[in-house]
Amino acid sequence: MLSLVRVTLALSLAVLSANAENLLVTVGAGNSLAFSPSNITAAAGDVINFQFQSKNHSVTQSSFASPCTPLANGVDSGFQAVPVNATAFPQFSIVLKNASRPLFFFSAQDAAASECNKGMVFSLNADADSANSFDAFQKAAEALATSTSASTGKAASPSSASSSASTGSTAATTFLVDIGAGGSLKFNPPNITAKAGDVVQFLFESKNHSITQSSFASPCTPLAGGIDSGFQPVSETDTEVPAFSFTLSNANKPLFFFSKQTAVVNECQQGMVFSVNADPNSAESFAAFQAAAMASSGSSASAGSANSASPSASGLTAAPAASSTAAAVPGLVSVGVGEGGSLTFSPSNVIAKAGDTVQFQFLSKNHSVTQSSFASPCTPLVGGIDSGFQPVLETANQVPAFSFTVNDASKPLFFFSKQTAAVNECQKGMVFSLNADANSNESFEAFQRREGGCILVILGSWGFRHT
Ligand SMILES: *[C@@H]1O[C@H](CO)[C@@H](O)[C@H](O)[C@H]1NC(C)=O
Ligand SMILES: *[C@@H]1O[C@H](CO)[C@@H](O)[C@H](O)[C@H]1NC(C)=O
Ligand SMILES: *[C@@H]1O[C@H](CO)[C@@H](O)[C@H](O)[C@H]1NC(C)=O
Ligand SMILES: *[C@@H]1O[C@H](CO)[C@@H](O)[C@H](O)[C@H]1NC(C)=O
Ligand SMILES: *[C@@H]1O[C@H](CO)[C@@H](O)[C@H](O)[C@H]1NC(C)=O
Ligand SMILES: *[C@@H]1O[C@H](CO)[C@@H](O)[C@H](O)[C@H]1NC(C)=O
Ligand SMILES: *[C@@H]1O[C@H](CO)[C@@H](O)[C@H](O)[C@H]1NC(C)=O
Ligand SMILES: *[C@@H]1O[C@H](CO)[C@@H](O)[C@H](O)[C@H]1NC(C)=O
Repeated sequence: MLSLVRVTLALSLAVLSANAENLLVTVGAGNSLAFSPSNITAAAGDVINFQFQSKNHSVTQSSFASPCTPLANGVDSGFQAVPVNATAFPQFSIVLKNASRPLFFFSAQDAAASECNKGMVFSLNADADSANSFDAFQKAAEALATSTSASTGKAASPSSASSSASTGSTAATTFLVDIGAGGSLKFNPPNITAKAGDVVQFLFESKNHSITQSSFASPCTPLAGGIDSGFQPVSETDTEVPAFSFTLSNANKPLFFFSKQTAVVNECQQGMVFSVNADPNSAESFAAFQAAAMASSGSSASAGSANSASPSASGLTAAPAASSTAAAVPGLVSVGVGEGGSLTFSPSNVIAKAGDTVQFQFLSKNHSVTQSSFASPCTPLVGGIDSGFQPVLETANQVPAFSFTVNDASKPLFFFSKQTAAVNECQKGMVFSLNADANSNESFEAFQRREGGCILVILGSWGFRHT
Protein backbone atom coordinates (compact mmCIF):
# COMPACT_ATOMS: atom_id res chain seq x y z
CA MET A 1 0.00 0.00 0.00
CA LEU A 2 2.91 2.28 0.48
CA SER A 3 5.95 2.80 -1.62
CA LEU A 4 9.23 3.53 -0.03
CA VAL A 5 11.75 5.94 -1.42
CA ARG A 6 14.91 6.21 0.58
CA VAL A 7 16.93 9.28 -0.05
CA THR A 8 20.20 10.37 1.37
CA LEU A 9 20.83 13.93 0.43
CA ALA A 10 23.38 16.35 1.63
CA LEU A 11 21.34 19.05 3.22
CA SER A 12 22.20 22.13 5.08
CA LEU A 13 21.55 21.96 8.77
CA ALA A 14 19.70 25.19 8.43
CA VAL A 15 17.30 23.91 5.85
CA LEU A 16 14.48 22.14 7.56
CA SER A 17 11.60 22.57 5.19
CA ALA A 18 13.89 22.89 2.26
CA ASN A 19 12.47 23.98 -0.99
CA ALA A 20 15.77 23.33 -2.60
CA GLU A 21 16.19 24.55 -6.11
CA ASN A 22 17.17 22.28 -8.94
CA LEU A 23 19.60 24.17 -11.15
CA LEU A 24 20.57 23.00 -14.61
CA VAL A 25 24.02 23.51 -16.12
CA THR A 26 24.56 22.10 -19.57
CA VAL A 27 27.95 20.71 -20.48
CA GLY A 28 28.92 20.94 -24.14
CA ALA A 29 25.56 22.18 -25.42
CA GLY A 30 25.59 22.55 -29.20
CA ASN A 31 28.97 20.80 -29.27
CA SER A 32 30.57 23.78 -27.55
CA LEU A 33 33.45 23.53 -25.12
CA ALA A 34 31.48 25.29 -22.46
CA PHE A 35 29.44 24.99 -19.34
CA SER A 36 26.24 26.97 -19.66
CA PRO A 37 25.80 29.02 -17.60
CA SER A 38 29.50 29.13 -16.82
CA ASN A 39 29.05 30.51 -13.34
CA ILE A 40 26.08 30.43 -11.02
CA THR A 41 25.19 31.32 -7.50
CA ALA A 42 23.25 28.80 -5.44
CA ALA A 43 22.06 28.42 -1.88
CA ALA A 44 22.78 25.65 0.57
CA GLY A 45 20.53 22.70 -0.19
CA ASP A 46 20.28 23.49 -3.89
CA VAL A 47 20.96 20.72 -6.35
CA ILE A 48 23.19 21.57 -9.29
CA ASN A 49 22.59 19.24 -12.19
CA PHE A 50 25.26 19.04 -14.86
CA GLN A 51 23.77 17.70 -18.05
CA PHE A 52 26.23 16.33 -20.61
CA GLN A 53 24.94 17.10 -24.08
CA SER A 54 27.80 16.21 -26.40
CA LYS A 55 31.22 14.62 -26.80
CA ASN A 56 33.08 13.37 -23.78
CA HIS A 57 33.52 15.86 -20.97
CA SER A 58 33.75 15.77 -17.20
CA VAL A 59 32.85 17.96 -14.27
CA THR A 60 35.92 17.83 -12.11
CA GLN A 61 36.50 19.98 -9.07
CA SER A 62 39.71 21.98 -8.89
CA SER A 63 40.76 25.09 -7.00
CA PHE A 64 41.18 28.70 -7.94
CA ALA A 65 44.92 28.31 -7.56
CA SER A 66 45.17 25.27 -9.86
CA PRO A 67 42.28 25.49 -12.30
CA CYS A 68 43.16 22.41 -14.36
CA THR A 69 44.25 20.03 -11.61
CA PRO A 70 41.72 17.77 -9.87
CA LEU A 71 41.26 18.73 -6.24
CA ALA A 72 42.16 15.95 -3.83
CA ASN A 73 38.87 14.47 -2.56
CA GLY A 74 36.98 16.79 -4.84
CA VAL A 75 33.87 15.99 -6.80
CA ASP A 76 34.39 14.26 -10.14
CA SER A 77 31.75 13.04 -12.54
CA GLY A 78 34.25 11.01 -14.53
CA PHE A 79 34.15 11.22 -18.31
CA GLN A 80 30.66 11.22 -19.75
CA ALA A 81 30.67 10.30 -23.40
CA VAL A 82 27.49 11.25 -25.26
CA PRO A 83 26.84 9.57 -28.58
CA VAL A 84 25.60 11.60 -31.51
CA ASN A 85 21.78 11.46 -31.48
CA ALA A 86 21.80 10.20 -27.90
CA THR A 87 18.50 8.95 -26.54
CA ALA A 88 19.40 10.21 -23.09
CA PHE A 89 21.82 12.73 -21.67
CA PRO A 90 23.79 11.73 -18.62
CA GLN A 91 23.52 14.12 -15.74
CA PHE A 92 25.73 14.46 -12.70
CA SER A 93 24.53 16.36 -9.68
CA ILE A 94 25.86 17.76 -6.49
CA VAL A 95 24.02 19.07 -3.51
CA LEU A 96 25.47 22.28 -2.16
CA LYS A 97 26.11 22.45 1.55
CA ASN A 98 28.00 25.63 2.08
CA ALA A 99 27.15 28.60 -0.07
CA SER A 100 29.73 30.92 1.45
CA ARG A 101 32.62 29.17 -0.24
CA PRO A 102 33.24 29.42 -3.99
CA LEU A 103 33.77 26.11 -5.79
CA PHE A 104 35.67 25.70 -9.05
CA PHE A 105 35.39 23.02 -11.73
CA PHE A 106 36.77 22.11 -15.15
CA SER A 107 36.41 19.47 -17.84
CA ALA A 108 39.35 17.12 -17.45
CA GLN A 109 39.21 15.96 -21.06
CA ASP A 110 42.55 16.44 -22.80
CA ALA A 111 42.51 13.70 -25.45
CA ALA A 112 42.45 16.10 -28.39
CA ALA A 113 43.37 19.25 -26.51
CA SER A 114 43.11 20.35 -22.91
CA GLU A 115 39.55 21.53 -22.63
CA CYS A 116 40.45 23.34 -19.43
CA ASN A 117 43.10 25.33 -21.26
CA LYS A 118 40.41 26.21 -23.77
CA GLY A 119 38.42 27.79 -21.00
CA MET A 120 35.96 24.99 -20.31
CA VAL A 121 35.61 25.83 -16.65
CA PHE A 122 32.77 26.52 -14.25
CA SER A 123 32.39 28.24 -10.92
CA LEU A 124 29.78 28.09 -8.22
CA ASN A 125 29.31 31.09 -5.95
CA ALA A 126 32.40 32.88 -7.17
CA ASP A 127 32.13 36.57 -6.33
CA ALA A 128 32.26 38.55 -9.57
CA ASP A 129 33.78 41.49 -7.69
CA SER A 130 36.53 39.58 -5.95
CA ALA A 131 39.97 38.58 -7.19
CA ASN A 132 38.65 35.02 -7.38
CA SER A 133 35.91 35.78 -9.89
CA PHE A 134 34.81 33.40 -12.60
CA ASP A 135 36.55 35.59 -15.17
CA ALA A 136 39.86 35.46 -13.32
CA PHE A 137 39.50 31.69 -12.91
CA GLN A 138 38.86 31.18 -16.61
CA LYS A 139 41.76 33.43 -17.58
CA ALA A 140 44.07 31.48 -15.27
CA ALA A 141 42.91 28.22 -16.87
CA GLU A 142 43.55 29.55 -20.37
CA ALA A 143 46.95 30.93 -19.36
CA LEU A 144 48.03 27.38 -18.54
CA ALA A 145 47.89 26.51 -22.22
CA THR A 146 51.32 25.58 -23.39
CA SER A 147 52.98 26.39 -26.72
CA THR A 148 50.85 25.01 -29.51
CA SER A 149 47.21 24.73 -28.73
CA ALA A 150 45.32 22.61 -31.17
CA SER A 151 42.18 24.33 -32.32
CA THR A 152 39.89 21.36 -32.24
CA GLY A 153 36.54 21.33 -30.70
CA LYS A 154 35.00 24.68 -31.36
CA ALA A 155 33.62 23.66 -34.74
CA ALA A 156 29.97 23.48 -33.91
CA SER A 157 27.10 21.68 -35.51
CA PRO A 158 24.55 22.86 -32.98
CA SER A 159 21.56 21.22 -34.58
CA SER A 160 22.80 17.74 -33.78
CA ALA A 161 22.28 18.20 -30.07
CA SER A 162 18.83 17.32 -28.91
CA SER A 163 17.02 20.17 -27.28
CA SER A 164 14.47 18.13 -25.43
CA ALA A 165 16.43 18.09 -22.23
CA SER A 166 16.78 21.77 -21.63
CA THR A 167 13.10 22.30 -22.02
CA GLY A 168 11.97 19.15 -20.28
CA SER A 169 13.87 19.16 -17.05
CA THR A 170 11.86 21.67 -15.09
CA ALA A 171 8.33 20.59 -15.96
CA ALA A 172 9.16 16.92 -16.14
CA THR A 173 8.96 14.32 -13.43
CA THR A 174 12.11 13.51 -11.53
CA PHE A 175 12.42 9.91 -10.42
CA LEU A 176 14.67 9.23 -7.48
CA VAL A 177 16.39 5.88 -7.56
CA ASP A 178 18.34 4.79 -4.58
CA ILE A 179 21.51 2.78 -5.10
CA GLY A 180 22.70 0.51 -2.33
CA ALA A 181 20.49 1.88 0.44
CA GLY A 182 21.33 0.32 3.77
CA GLY A 183 24.27 -1.46 2.20
CA SER A 184 21.98 -3.53 -0.03
CA LEU A 185 22.84 -4.58 -3.57
CA LYS A 186 19.72 -3.01 -4.97
CA PHE A 187 18.29 -0.23 -7.03
CA ASN A 188 15.16 1.07 -5.40
CA PRO A 189 12.83 1.19 -7.22
CA PRO A 190 14.34 -1.41 -9.57
CA ASN A 191 12.28 -0.38 -12.57
CA ILE A 192 10.34 2.68 -13.56
CA THR A 193 8.08 3.83 -16.32
CA ALA A 194 8.96 7.31 -17.51
CA LYS A 195 8.13 9.62 -20.36
CA ALA A 196 10.38 11.63 -22.63
CA GLY A 197 11.75 14.62 -20.77
CA ASP A 198 11.64 12.93 -17.39
CA VAL A 199 14.78 12.91 -15.29
CA VAL A 200 16.00 9.78 -13.57
CA GLN A 201 18.26 10.64 -10.68
CA PHE A 202 20.36 8.02 -8.95
CA LEU A 203 21.63 8.55 -5.42
CA PHE A 204 24.67 6.57 -4.40
CA GLU A 205 24.08 5.65 -0.79
CA SER A 206 26.76 3.16 0.08
CA LYS A 207 29.82 1.26 -1.04
CA ASN A 208 31.05 1.68 -4.58
CA HIS A 209 28.47 1.03 -7.26
CA SER A 210 27.81 2.22 -10.77
CA ILE A 211 24.80 2.69 -12.98
CA THR A 212 25.89 1.31 -16.32
CA GLN A 213 23.77 0.76 -19.38
CA SER A 214 23.64 -2.70 -20.91
CA SER A 215 21.16 -4.48 -23.14
CA PHE A 216 18.48 -7.07 -22.55
CA ALA A 217 20.60 -9.60 -24.44
CA SER A 218 23.73 -9.02 -22.31
CA PRO A 219 22.59 -7.78 -18.91
CA CYS A 220 26.04 -7.59 -17.33
CA THR A 221 28.03 -6.15 -20.23
CA PRO A 222 28.37 -2.39 -20.76
CA LEU A 223 26.58 -1.23 -23.90
CA ALA A 224 28.96 0.41 -26.36
CA GLY A 225 28.20 4.13 -26.25
CA GLY A 226 25.80 3.60 -23.36
CA ILE A 227 25.34 5.66 -20.24
CA ASP A 228 27.80 4.99 -17.45
CA SER A 229 28.13 6.83 -14.18
CA GLY A 230 31.50 5.24 -13.51
CA PHE A 231 32.18 3.93 -10.03
CA GLN A 232 30.88 6.25 -7.35
CA PRO A 233 32.48 5.30 -4.05
CA VAL A 234 30.77 6.63 -0.96
CA SER A 235 32.45 7.03 2.36
CA GLU A 236 30.88 8.21 5.56
CA THR A 237 33.10 11.26 5.62
CA ASP A 238 32.15 12.48 2.17
CA THR A 239 31.24 16.13 2.05
CA GLU A 240 29.17 15.85 -1.11
CA VAL A 241 26.89 13.01 -2.01
CA PRO A 242 27.26 11.79 -5.56
CA ALA A 243 24.20 11.64 -7.66
CA PHE A 244 23.93 10.80 -11.31
CA SER A 245 21.03 11.46 -13.61
CA PHE A 246 19.95 11.33 -17.14
CA THR A 247 17.08 12.81 -19.04
CA LEU A 248 15.02 10.49 -21.13
CA SER A 249 14.60 11.76 -24.65
CA ASN A 250 12.93 8.68 -26.08
CA ALA A 251 10.38 6.68 -24.11
CA ASN A 252 9.64 4.17 -26.85
CA LYS A 253 12.52 1.85 -26.11
CA PRO A 254 13.23 0.05 -22.85
CA LEU A 255 16.61 0.82 -21.31
CA PHE A 256 18.55 -1.66 -19.18
CA PHE A 257 21.23 -1.02 -16.56
CA PHE A 258 23.41 -2.77 -13.99
CA SER A 259 26.07 -2.06 -11.40
CA LYS A 260 29.37 -3.07 -12.93
CA GLN A 261 31.11 -3.56 -9.60
CA THR A 262 32.73 -6.99 -9.36
CA ALA A 263 35.40 -6.42 -6.71
CA VAL A 264 33.80 -8.33 -3.85
CA VAL A 265 30.95 -9.99 -5.67
CA ASN A 266 29.65 -9.62 -9.20
CA GLU A 267 26.82 -7.27 -8.32
CA CYS A 268 25.01 -7.70 -11.60
CA GLN A 269 24.92 -11.45 -11.14
CA GLN A 270 23.47 -10.79 -7.69
CA GLY A 271 20.52 -9.14 -9.41
CA MET A 272 21.61 -5.52 -9.01
CA VAL A 273 19.94 -4.33 -12.20
CA PHE A 274 17.53 -1.60 -13.23
CA SER A 275 15.26 -0.87 -16.17
CA VAL A 276 13.36 2.06 -17.62
CA ASN A 277 10.19 1.42 -19.59
CA ALA A 278 10.49 -2.35 -19.70
CA ASP A 279 7.03 -3.69 -20.46
CA PRO A 280 6.03 -6.15 -17.72
CA ASN A 281 3.89 -8.00 -20.25
CA SER A 282 6.59 -8.43 -22.84
CA ALA A 283 9.39 -10.96 -23.06
CA GLU A 284 11.77 -8.14 -22.14
CA SER A 285 10.25 -7.33 -18.75
CA PHE A 286 12.27 -6.17 -15.78
CA ALA A 287 11.71 -9.55 -14.13
CA ALA A 288 13.06 -11.40 -17.18
CA PHE A 289 16.04 -9.04 -17.34
CA GLN A 290 16.89 -9.58 -13.69
CA ALA A 291 16.49 -13.33 -14.05
CA ALA A 292 18.85 -13.30 -17.04
CA ALA A 293 21.41 -11.26 -15.08
CA MET A 294 21.28 -13.68 -12.19
CA ALA A 295 21.36 -16.71 -14.44
CA SER A 296 24.65 -15.49 -15.83
CA SER A 297 26.24 -16.54 -12.54
CA GLY A 298 26.82 -20.09 -11.41
CA SER A 299 25.16 -19.56 -8.06
CA SER A 300 21.49 -18.97 -7.63
CA ALA A 301 21.99 -16.25 -5.04
CA SER A 302 18.93 -14.38 -4.00
CA ALA A 303 20.65 -11.23 -2.86
CA GLY A 304 18.35 -9.23 -5.07
CA SER A 305 15.82 -9.49 -2.33
CA ALA A 306 18.14 -9.04 0.63
CA ASN A 307 16.67 -6.81 3.32
CA SER A 308 13.31 -7.28 1.75
CA ALA A 309 10.41 -6.33 3.87
CA SER A 310 7.29 -8.27 4.43
CA PRO A 311 4.80 -5.96 2.84
CA SER A 312 1.79 -7.37 4.60
CA ALA A 313 3.26 -6.90 8.05
CA SER A 314 4.04 -3.25 7.65
CA GLY A 315 1.71 -2.01 4.99
CA LEU A 316 4.91 -0.92 3.27
CA THR A 317 6.96 -2.18 0.47
CA ALA A 318 10.42 -1.29 -0.58
CA ALA A 319 9.74 -2.69 -4.01
CA PRO A 320 8.85 -0.89 -7.21
CA ALA A 321 7.21 2.42 -6.64
CA ALA A 322 4.48 3.11 -9.10
CA SER A 323 5.67 5.72 -11.50
CA SER A 324 3.07 8.16 -10.34
CA THR A 325 4.28 8.13 -6.76
CA ALA A 326 8.02 7.98 -7.43
CA ALA A 327 8.13 11.65 -8.26
CA ALA A 328 10.22 13.73 -5.92
CA VAL A 329 8.12 16.83 -5.97
CA PRO A 330 4.63 16.27 -4.50
CA GLY A 331 4.07 17.32 -0.91
CA LEU A 332 7.19 17.14 1.15
CA VAL A 333 6.76 16.95 4.90
CA SER A 334 10.00 17.52 6.79
CA VAL A 335 10.66 16.16 10.24
CA GLY A 336 13.70 17.11 12.28
CA VAL A 337 15.34 14.31 14.24
CA GLY A 338 17.26 15.44 17.29
CA GLU A 339 16.90 19.15 16.62
CA GLY A 340 19.18 21.17 18.88
CA GLY A 341 20.54 17.99 20.42
CA SER A 342 17.13 17.06 21.82
CA LEU A 343 15.70 13.55 21.95
CA THR A 344 12.73 14.48 19.81
CA PHE A 345 11.15 14.29 16.47
CA SER A 346 9.85 17.69 15.51
CA PRO A 347 7.05 17.76 14.77
CA SER A 348 6.27 14.55 16.62
CA ASN A 349 3.11 13.74 14.73
CA VAL A 350 2.32 14.76 11.20
CA ILE A 351 -0.65 14.32 8.98
CA ALA A 352 0.28 13.44 5.44
CA LYS A 353 -1.78 12.40 2.50
CA ALA A 354 -1.19 9.67 -0.02
CA GLY A 355 1.62 10.68 -2.37
CA ASP A 356 3.35 12.90 0.17
CA THR A 357 6.97 12.25 1.01
CA VAL A 358 7.93 12.34 4.65
CA GLN A 359 11.55 13.32 4.99
CA PHE A 360 13.45 12.88 8.23
CA GLN A 361 16.52 15.04 8.60
CA PHE A 362 19.00 13.81 11.18
CA LEU A 363 20.21 16.93 12.94
CA SER A 364 22.36 15.63 15.79
CA LYS A 365 23.87 12.62 17.53
CA ASN A 366 23.07 9.16 16.28
CA HIS A 367 19.38 8.36 15.99
CA SER A 368 17.19 6.20 13.81
CA VAL A 369 13.68 6.29 12.43
CA THR A 370 12.42 2.79 13.02
CA GLN A 371 8.88 1.62 12.54
CA SER A 372 7.11 -0.08 15.41
CA SER A 373 3.49 -0.67 16.26
CA PHE A 374 1.15 1.07 18.65
CA ALA A 375 1.16 -2.04 20.81
CA SER A 376 4.97 -2.30 21.06
CA PRO A 377 6.37 1.22 20.69
CA CYS A 378 10.05 0.34 21.23
CA THR A 379 10.25 -2.87 19.21
CA PRO A 380 11.06 -2.79 15.50
CA LEU A 381 8.14 -3.94 13.42
CA VAL A 382 9.02 -7.00 11.39
CA GLY A 383 9.34 -5.83 7.81
CA GLY A 384 8.93 -2.22 8.89
CA ILE A 385 10.77 0.86 7.75
CA ASP A 386 14.15 1.44 9.35
CA SER A 387 16.60 4.18 8.48
CA GLY A 388 19.31 2.46 10.45
CA PHE A 389 21.51 4.56 12.70
CA GLN A 390 22.37 7.91 11.18
CA PRO A 391 25.27 9.43 13.08
CA VAL A 392 25.87 13.14 12.61
CA LEU A 393 29.17 14.77 13.42
CA GLU A 394 28.97 18.12 15.15
CA THR A 395 31.25 19.50 12.50
CA ALA A 396 29.29 18.03 9.60
CA ASN A 397 28.26 20.32 6.81
CA GLN A 398 25.71 17.84 5.62
CA VAL A 399 23.14 15.81 7.39
CA PRO A 400 21.62 12.57 6.27
CA ALA A 401 17.98 12.47 5.39
CA PHE A 402 15.69 9.50 5.08
CA SER A 403 12.35 9.57 3.32
CA PHE A 404 9.40 7.49 2.41
CA THR A 405 6.33 8.13 0.37
CA VAL A 406 2.86 7.59 1.79
CA ASN A 407 0.53 5.54 -0.33
CA ASP A 408 -2.15 4.86 2.22
CA ALA A 409 -3.00 7.67 4.57
CA SER A 410 -5.91 5.88 6.21
CA LYS A 411 -3.86 4.08 8.88
CA PRO A 412 -1.57 5.59 11.51
CA LEU A 413 2.08 4.53 11.46
CA PHE A 414 4.33 4.56 14.51
CA PHE A 415 8.09 5.04 14.80
CA PHE A 416 10.86 5.39 17.37
CA SER A 417 14.60 5.95 17.63
CA LYS A 418 16.17 2.61 18.39
CA GLN A 419 19.33 4.09 19.90
CA THR A 420 20.02 2.67 23.36
CA ALA A 421 23.78 3.31 23.72
CA ALA A 422 23.72 6.17 26.21
CA VAL A 423 20.05 6.05 27.10
CA ASN A 424 17.11 4.13 25.72
CA GLU A 425 15.82 6.95 23.54
CA CYS A 426 12.46 5.35 22.92
CA GLN A 427 11.84 5.05 26.62
CA LYS A 428 12.76 8.72 26.86
CA GLY A 429 9.83 9.41 24.59
CA MET A 430 11.68 9.78 21.30
CA VAL A 431 8.81 8.52 19.21
CA PHE A 432 6.92 9.71 16.16
CA SER A 433 3.59 9.04 14.58
CA LEU A 434 2.19 9.59 11.13
CA ASN A 435 -1.50 10.21 10.69
CA ALA A 436 -2.34 9.37 14.30
CA ASP A 437 -5.72 10.84 15.17
CA ALA A 438 -5.48 13.04 18.26
CA ASN A 439 -9.04 12.08 19.23
CA SER A 440 -8.63 8.33 18.96
CA ASN A 441 -7.33 5.78 21.44
CA GLU A 442 -4.22 5.50 19.25
CA SER A 443 -3.19 9.13 19.40
CA PHE A 444 0.42 10.29 19.47
CA GLU A 445 0.14 11.07 23.20
CA ALA A 446 -1.21 7.63 23.96
CA PHE A 447 1.61 6.11 21.93
CA GLN A 448 4.29 8.14 23.66
CA ARG A 449 2.84 7.39 27.08
CA ARG A 450 2.84 3.65 26.47
CA GLU A 451 6.51 2.92 26.79
CA GLY A 452 7.85 6.21 27.99
CA GLY A 453 9.73 6.09 31.27
CA CYS A 454 9.12 9.77 31.33
CA ILE A 455 7.28 12.17 29.12
CA LEU A 456 9.43 14.74 27.46
CA VAL A 457 8.50 18.25 26.69
CA ILE A 458 8.43 18.36 22.95
CA LEU A 459 10.87 21.03 21.96
CA GLY A 460 9.96 21.12 18.34
CA SER A 461 6.84 22.70 17.11
CA TRP A 462 3.77 20.67 16.44
CA GLY A 463 2.65 21.03 12.96
CA PHE A 464 0.43 19.74 10.31
CA ARG A 465 1.48 20.26 6.79
CA HIS A 466 -0.57 19.40 3.86
CA THR A 467 0.23 20.04 0.17
C1 LIG B 1 29.50 35.28 -14.09
O1 LIG B 1 30.68 35.85 -14.53
C2 LIG B 1 30.50 37.09 -15.21
C3 LIG B 1 31.85 37.53 -15.69
O2 LIG B 1 32.77 37.52 -14.61
C4 LIG B 1 29.91 38.11 -14.26
O3 LIG B 1 29.65 39.32 -14.95
C5 LIG B 1 28.62 37.57 -13.72
O4 LIG B 1 28.13 38.44 -12.74
C6 LIG B 1 28.84 36.20 -13.12
N1 LIG B 1 27.56 35.65 -12.76
C7 LIG B 1 27.34 35.10 -11.57
C8 LIG B 1 25.99 34.55 -11.36
O5 LIG B 1 28.21 35.04 -10.71
C1 LIG C 1 21.73 11.41 -36.29
O1 LIG C 1 20.43 11.77 -36.75
C2 LIG C 1 20.45 12.38 -38.02
C3 LIG C 1 19.03 12.85 -38.34
O2 LIG C 1 18.12 11.83 -38.04
C4 LIG C 1 21.00 11.43 -39.08
O3 LIG C 1 21.06 12.05 -40.33
C5 LIG C 1 22.40 11.00 -38.66
O4 LIG C 1 22.89 10.02 -39.54
C6 LIG C 1 22.40 10.43 -37.24
N1 LIG C 1 23.78 10.18 -36.85
C7 LIG C 1 24.16 9.08 -36.22
C8 LIG C 1 25.62 8.95 -35.90
O5 LIG C 1 23.37 8.21 -35.89
C1 LIG D 1 31.49 27.53 4.99
O1 LIG D 1 32.66 27.97 4.34
C2 LIG D 1 33.23 29.14 4.96
C3 LIG D 1 34.36 29.59 4.08
O2 LIG D 1 35.25 28.54 3.82
C4 LIG D 1 33.67 28.78 6.38
O3 LIG D 1 34.20 29.91 7.01
C5 LIG D 1 32.47 28.28 7.15
O4 LIG D 1 32.89 27.83 8.41
C6 LIG D 1 31.80 27.14 6.41
N1 LIG D 1 30.56 26.80 7.10
C7 LIG D 1 30.34 25.60 7.55
C8 LIG D 1 29.00 25.38 8.20
O5 LIG D 1 31.17 24.69 7.44
C1 LIG E 1 36.20 9.60 -22.98
O1 LIG E 1 37.40 10.24 -22.66
C2 LIG E 1 38.28 9.46 -21.86
C3 LIG E 1 39.49 10.30 -21.50
O2 LIG E 1 40.07 10.86 -22.62
C4 LIG E 1 38.66 8.20 -22.60
O3 LIG E 1 39.48 7.39 -21.77
C5 LIG E 1 37.41 7.43 -22.97
O4 LIG E 1 37.74 6.31 -23.76
C6 LIG E 1 36.46 8.32 -23.75
N1 LIG E 1 35.21 7.59 -23.96
C7 LIG E 1 34.65 7.48 -25.17
C8 LIG E 1 33.42 6.63 -25.24
O5 LIG E 1 35.09 8.04 -26.16
C1 LIG F 1 8.55 -3.57 -12.74
O1 LIG F 1 8.73 -4.92 -13.13
C2 LIG F 1 7.75 -5.82 -12.63
C3 LIG F 1 8.15 -7.21 -13.08
O2 LIG F 1 8.34 -7.26 -14.49
C4 LIG F 1 6.37 -5.41 -13.13
O3 LIG F 1 5.39 -6.21 -12.55
C5 LIG F 1 6.10 -3.95 -12.76
O4 LIG F 1 4.89 -3.55 -13.35
C6 LIG F 1 7.22 -3.06 -13.26
N1 LIG F 1 6.99 -1.70 -12.78
C7 LIG F 1 7.16 -0.64 -13.55
C8 LIG F 1 6.93 0.68 -12.89
O5 LIG F 1 7.49 -0.71 -14.71
C1 LIG G 1 35.64 1.47 -6.61
O1 LIG G 1 35.58 0.29 -7.39
C2 LIG G 1 36.51 0.28 -8.48
C3 LIG G 1 36.28 -0.98 -9.28
O2 LIG G 1 36.28 -2.11 -8.45
C4 LIG G 1 37.93 0.38 -7.95
O3 LIG G 1 38.84 0.43 -9.03
C5 LIG G 1 38.08 1.62 -7.11
O4 LIG G 1 39.36 1.66 -6.53
C6 LIG G 1 37.02 1.63 -6.01
N1 LIG G 1 37.11 2.91 -5.30
C7 LIG G 1 37.16 2.98 -3.97
C8 LIG G 1 37.35 4.35 -3.41
O5 LIG G 1 37.04 2.00 -3.26
C1 LIG H 1 25.66 4.87 16.18
O1 LIG H 1 24.97 4.05 17.07
C2 LIG H 1 25.12 2.65 16.83
C3 LIG H 1 24.24 1.88 17.79
O2 LIG H 1 24.47 2.30 19.11
C4 LIG H 1 26.57 2.27 16.97
O3 LIG H 1 26.75 0.91 16.68
C5 LIG H 1 27.41 3.10 16.03
O4 LIG H 1 28.79 2.84 16.23
C6 LIG H 1 27.15 4.58 16.26
N1 LIG H 1 27.86 5.32 15.24
C7 LIG H 1 28.66 6.36 15.53
C8 LIG H 1 29.41 6.96 14.40
O5 LIG H 1 28.78 6.79 16.68
C1 LIG I 1 -8.67 1.32 19.74
O1 LIG I 1 -10.02 1.17 19.36
C2 LIG I 1 -10.22 0.23 18.29
C3 LIG I 1 -11.70 0.19 17.96
O2 LIG I 1 -12.24 1.48 18.03
C4 LIG I 1 -9.74 -1.16 18.70
O3 LIG I 1 -9.86 -2.04 17.61
C5 LIG I 1 -8.29 -1.06 19.13
O4 LIG I 1 -7.86 -2.31 19.63
C6 LIG I 1 -8.12 -0.01 20.23
N1 LIG I 1 -6.71 0.12 20.52
C7 LIG I 1 -6.26 0.17 21.77
C8 LIG I 1 -4.78 0.29 21.93
O5 LIG I 1 -7.00 0.14 22.73
